[in-house]
Amino acid sequence: MNNETILTDDAFLVSETDEKGIITFANDRFCEIAGYTLEELMGKPHNIVRHKDMPKAAFKDLWTTVKKGEVWTGYVKNATKEGGYYWVYATVFPFESCNGNPGYLSCRRKASQQEIDKATALYKTLD
Ligand SMILES: Cc1cc2nc3c(=O)[nH]c(=O)nc-3n(C[C@H](O)[C@H](O)[C@H](O)COP(=O)(O)O)c2cc1C
Repeated sequence: MNNETILTDDAFLVSETDEKGIITFANDRFCEIAGYTLEELMGKPHNIVRHKDMPKAAFKDLWTTVKKGEVWTGYVKNATKEGGYYWVYATVFPFESCNGNPGYLSCRRKASQQEIDKATALYKTLD
């Protein structure tokens, strides 16, 4: 299926996870683009939106980076509930949540067609 959602320039998709990658928050725009209600996302592993074209190496890099307390940025192709997909440029921040445990926050904006083409070519070379 080739059902791509192109984000608008002002779209800002936010989600938060606990230290295990379980979703603890998503903003309205994230829910809308992904095609889920907030209730459907809360408490689920964030790989609920994983697209099969994404290489494992990208997420390995994401987790290694944020667990060190550093900020990760990268291009991500996500799957929608209906079987479509959308590309984003994501920035993932580690933070300390109120209970003292680590939490992670991802802010996503539109990726340009040029950025998507580059990421697609790169990801084909990764496992
Ligand atoms: C804050 C945060 C946001 C994430 N956002 C996404 C996302 O939008 N899409 C995605 O596929 N994985 C995202 N991940 C990575 C997932 O936790 C997971 O590692 C990835 O989907 C690969 O699935 P797997 O670990 O089961 O192989 C995010 C992780 C964190 C910490």
